Amino acid sequence: MKPHYLISAVVLLFSSPLYAQNVPPASTNSDIPQSQTQARELFISNLMKKMTLDDKIGQLNLVSVGPENPREQIMADIRADKVGGVFNTVTKHDIRQMQDQVQYSRLKIPPFYAYDVVHGQRTVFPISLGLAASWDMSAVALSARISAEETAADGLNMTFSPMVDITRDPRWGRVSEGFGEDTYLTSRLAYETVKAYQGNDPSAPNNVMANVKHFALYGAVEGGREYNTVDMSLSRMFNDYMPPYKAALDAGAGGVMVALNSVNGVPATSNSWLLKDILRDQWKFHGLTVSDHGAIGGLVKHGVAENDRQAAAMALKAGVDMDMADNMYGKYLKGLLKDGLISQKDIDSAVHDVLTAKWDMGLFVSPYRHLGPVSSDPVDTNAESRLHRKEAREVARTTLVLLKNENQILPLQKKGTIALIGPLADSQRDMMGSWSAAGVAKQSITVLKGMQDALGDKATLLYARGANITNDKTIYDFLNSYDKAVTNDPRTPQQMIDEAVKTAEKADTVVAVVGESQGMSSEASSRTDINIPEAQRELLKALKATGKPLVLVLMNGRPLTLSWENDISNAMLETWFSGTEGGHAIADVLFGDYNPSGKLPMTFPRDVGQIPIYNSMLNTGRPFNPQKPDKYTSRYFDTPNGPLFPFGYGLSYTQFSVSDITLSATTLAAKGDIKASVMVKNTGKVAGATVVQLYMQDVTASISRPVKELRGFEKVYLRPGEEKRVTFSLEEKDLRYFDNQLKWASQPGKFNVFVGLDSQNVKQSSFQLQ
Ligand code: BGC
Repeated sequence: MKPHYLISAVVLLFSSPLYAQNVPPASTNSDIPQSQTQARELFISNLMKKMTLDDKIGQLNLVSVGPENPREQIMADIRADKVGGVFNTVTKHDIRQMQDQVQYSRLKIPPFYAYDVVHGQRTVFPISLGLAASWDMSAVALSARISAEETAADGLNMTFSPMVDITRDPRWGRVSEGFGEDTYLTSRLAYETVKAYQGNDPSAPNNVMANVKHFALYGAVEGGREYNTVDMSLSRMFNDYMPPYKAALDAGAGGVMVALNSVNGVPATSNSWLLKDILRDQWKFHGLTVSDHGAIGGLVKHGVAENDRQAAAMALKAGVDMDMADNMYGKYLKGLLKDGLISQKDIDSAVHDVLTAKWDMGLFVSPYRHLGPVSSDPVDTNAESRLHRKEAREVARTTLVLLKNENQILPLQKKGTIALIGPLADSQRDMMGSWSAAGVAKQSITVLKGMQDALGDKATLLYARGANITNDKTIYDFLNSYDKAVTNDPRTPQQMIDEAVKTAEKADTVVAVVGESQGMSSEASSRTDINIPEAQRELLKALKATGKPLVLVLMNGRPLTLSWENDISNAMLETWFSGTEGGHAIADVLFGDYNPSGKLPMTFPRDVGQIPIYNSMLNTGRPFNPQKPDKYTSRYFDTPNGPLFPFGYGLSYTQFSVSDITLSATTLAAKGDIKASVMVKNTGKVAGATVVQLYMQDVTASISRPVKELRGFEKVYLRPGEEKRVTFSLEEKDLRYFDNQLKWASQPGKFNVFVGLDSQNVKQSSFQLQ
């Protein structure tokens, strides 16, 4: 599909993005002063005049260091001007050794060095889904800033991050890497993260360039099955899935990684509509596009290229500048040019983008821009002193979501005897989550260590593993297929449960740390069953039978189905994979040294069969009404409608009240604004933070619009008894949407406004758009 006729509408949306309400104006490459742009263009055109065809093709080569591509070979290739960029090498020593080769090359064009720094480099922060659960822009910015500083301090120039794919399917393993289901929240976080990585200058020695991924729509793979097809209406695509990528570009992201999936039948890697019409022509992106790992060769398997050679031609012509890892460009571009199947312009345009990115990274000022002098190289790359533990703990605390707290069983008192049980209670590797970059598992704090540190000798802490992650050998072997990520206790399940029960019986309270191992929520880790594995549920059953108060600490990278766990437990704390300082942060919350304030960035279903289930759904002609249930309404008859825990949900150790909504007017004129405000009060006994959320509904429009769509939020901190007015401002442009002709406009009529502390318990008001 090539809807060129829709272009003007697309431009309109993204010149005034939906998330713009609280976002500063865009700063793109076009903001670079004219003289600098001119200097860059002049430099690049002079350089390109000196380059042979081989030199140019070399610049399009993004190589991964690994057994099939040893360092010595890459160093020889750098000397021969055959390498544009390198990834998967992460120490200053190794990068410097490679960069030293540049001086022996003819052209002396330095490669750049990239890595997947998704939620931290040496210090690992909570997984991105957890960061989103903080709804705290300053915490997320802090984590990204430290990531950038540590990444730059390792001599790297670029991170393959943020990952901003909207996803509404928790079966997909990569939900852990993104910011969840919501367009507005993800767009805000995308913008914030890129700004924190790059500042206004990715070349600054302690900044790195962001490479936003995966363009586009990777999070919408059918059935949540990894690498699967995406087929989507244009209105949904542009209303819901595209804005986060655009937000990252508005923040100045220098790179874009192209998705592995197809979009309406055309693989992203050969999709010139996506990569040229939208990305370049409409969004005015001037940076670098890179393929995903081996994606060019994948075009043959997608069934759109007959062979690798044709695939290389298709990718280049579609607008993929660099070829990641499969060297298809290196092998085929020369011959393709000779045979007239690609043009010199196709090659030059890609080379131009690579050189632009290198200029923007400061590599032409010095190949050692981020490396600095040799004297700055750390003696010990993994030295404790290179970590930012304090910040990691502070950020991790903001990401924890209290899902249940019956009779205020939490916070626990630091006295008596506590039994800590579960296969994740003392797992350093799992605390780090997937894509934990250069983080060292041995440096992470487990829940056991965190609780020990919090308790000292004030209380007795007993520990038993209780179960393995899974007793299913097929799953265990899968999780260990690339590295030994999951360890198995050789005892029988019953022996482990018996020990756990004996331990629990000695305690006043049981804290069970259960969920997924980190490898269960990552790339290539889709699940059809999103329960806690059976082995751990058997353990929970036995713990429940002891009659002791049962607190579940959940570690997982996706929404899980937790109805049974919700029934049998007294409290549940969602902790994601919380990173290097996770155990301390979790202990802070368990013992009330920090009051939880996280809110779910994704809906938690009751049953896997409800998927997709998400907040901003459209209405049907026969909506289900829980107050007046009727057979012929939109529902499943075997499971209650609605999620177990809705989007935006999360409890606190205090209580908050929200007043009715005050609107500044009952009508909104095309050029005016309307203010919706509420008073929020801490009615409980301890200080705490909550997230005030604003949702909208366009009651009657030319196409069905979401029943409730997030359009604003503010995290507020209140002392006991304190109250605060929270005000949201809405303008006509905030009410626009794309119809199926991609016309971006609002329509006069009634709009509902909802404000609450989650997406379901809300106050409601309405106004008319004139
Ligand atoms: C992933 C990307 C990642 C790349 C490089 C791919 O398999 O899809 O997200 O950036 O590998 O590590």
